[in-house]
Amino acid sequence: MFKKILYPTDFSDVANSALDFIKQLKEAGAEEVVILHVIDKSSLDALAMYTSKDFLQIEKDWEANAASQMSSIADELKEAGLEVKVRIENDIPFRGILKVEEDEDVSVIVLGSHGVSNIQEMLLGSVSEKVIRKAKKPVLVVKR
Ligand SMILES: Nc1ncnc2c1ncn2[C@@H]1O[C@H](COP(=O)(O)OP(=O)(O)OP(=O)(O)O)[C@@H](O)[C@H]1O
Ligand SMILES: [Mg+2]
Repeated sequence: MFKKILYPTDFSDVANSALDFIKQLKEAGAEEVVILHVIDKSSLDALAMYTSKDFLQIEKDWEANAASQMSSIADELKEAGLEVKVRIENDIPFRGILKVEEDEDVSVIVLGSHGVSNIQEMLLGSVSEKVIRKAKKPVLVVKR
């Protein structure tokens, strides 16, 4: 049931806290983790409005930053004895997550209930809500 895990992350504290659960899922048969970050074009647009850098440079910086954070997450999971694959997608976050769910034929999705916004009044973030609604596979939601 937990053989191949899709772990979408926005590098928030809540998403990071899912890592401990993922390591524990090894005991329940987990073998491989696909770490996924989706770069959201509308967030890039918003960033581009507030800096003098051009859009392509911001996108490159964002990708490099994501790749470096993912590589330390990958090391941590490898140390725990899991196989790791890293993917960066350019898409709307929930759509990118659902696309990789299909592509990689994962067994389960493990994500945070909230992410970088972490608004107190919200029961769930908008990305986790859409993924729970639309995913085909079971979703394990790690609470903040
Ligand atoms: N861009 C992303 N790429 C990959 N995973 C993501 C991305 N954004 C969110 N996630 C995943 O979804 C979880 C919930 O984040 P979500 O964005 O729904 O909450 P939020 O940031 O608090 O709220 P909102 O984005 O609606 O303002 C995160 O912990 C992470 O696992
Ligand atoms: Mg968010």
